[in-house]
Amino acid sequence: MKIDRIDGNLFTFVPNKKTPVYNWFYYKEGFSRELVVDTIKKERPTTVLDPFCGSGTTLLAAKEMNVSSYGFDVTPIAVFVSRTKTRNYDKEKLEEYYKYIFSQKFIKLPIKKDVKKWFSKYTLEDVEFFKSVIKSIPGKYGDFFTLGLMNATMKCSYVYKDGSALKVRKKSVPPLRIMFKRIAHRMIKELMSGPEPFVDFGDARNLSVEDVDMIITSPPYLNKIEYKNVYRIENKLFFPLSPRPPVRSYFGLREEEKFSVESLIGNYDPNVLAYFDDIYKSLKEMRRVLNEGGKAYIIIGDGVSGSKVIDVLKITRELAESVGFAAEHLYIGNERTATTPTRRKLGVLREGMLVFKK
Ligand SMILES: C[S@@+](CC[C@H](N)C(=O)[O-])C[C@H]1O[C@@H](n2cnc3c(N)ncnc32)[C@H](O)[C@@H]1O
Repeated sequence: MKIDRIDGNLFTFVPNKKTPVYNWFYYKEGFSRELVVDTIKKERPTTVLDPFCGSGTTLLAAKEMNVSSYGFDVTPIAVFVSRTKTRNYDKEKLEEYYKYIFSQKFIKLPIKKDVKKWFSKYTLEDVEFFKSVIKSIPGKYGDFFTLGLMNATMKCSYVYKDGSALKVRKKSVPPLRIMFKRIAHRMIKELMSGPEPFVDFGDARNLSVEDVDMIITSPPYLNKIEYKNVYRIENKLFFPLSPRPPVRSYFGLREEEKFSVESLIGNYDPNVLAYFDDIYKSLKEMRRVLNEGGKAYIIIGDGVSGSKVIDVLKITRELAESVGFAAEHLYIGNERTATTPTRRKLGVLREGMLVFKK
């Protein structure tokens, strides 16, 4: 297996923050557009799959490059964001709805009590008012404005996301109406057309797709199983009725007596074994759905369990080989030293992209 270096920033959402459409929703766990575009240019696939699609970076880049794609995720907000970012829209219709929304007279509606500490009263009143206006806009057009409103709402909140914790930082915030108007206007200007990806709820351990040429994906990381909580405010405000997936459907979150993967990787804590059991299952699925000669690009990082560094890159490679993949390349992006709270060094954590061939 060849080993090379790559700019670690490409494994983060940071470069997308200024990229039209990609930045319609800030998804902390995302990777960059450039990474996907460069990979598609190199591999020239006809069909691309992202079994952990998150905010839809892979799907949007595939659309931009005129390539058809499939994306699955277990989190309602990820499926909603990926879908809404990747649909094709009629610009004139959006402009009509835009005029309609911002010409409605404000009505005061009851606000949600359980999110009060994160917002000013005025922001929450505006949220409820605009939600009620958007309700009358059908299908994907309603979703388009809901995504804009969600983005604007979080920009006008007191929330700041610190790892998995949501913290309050009181500050002066612009009126939601102005922020929403600005964001919706920008979104309409940025529209992108191309082949619409297929996006749905799905479990990467049990995929309902076939004949894929290339996979580019990033499974949840060992120590970052936080996405259930990070988007709880957006969920409460915008998707109160959508059923939450059962915990088991989240990667790496389940308790079992025995994990079969133990015979392949040895003895680890049950949470580590659960994680690799899921990695193993999803690698098997990725190989099954890929065409012969197809490649899987997997971005993943090492983690810590107990006071030990877990070499996730190495174990993932071993598991991939055990399901029949050939490991071709490892691109190392970031490296940092893991320490205990008392600053004792535990070892080096790497983040990288593994390339496997079927
Ligand atoms: C690292 S993020 C992917 C981010 C994506 N690359 C992007 O740019 O937005 C991992 C995603 O896996 C999803 N996930 C967790 N368990 C899953 C499962 N069993 N099947 C499919 N997706 C899952 C999470 O909801 C999360 O969105």
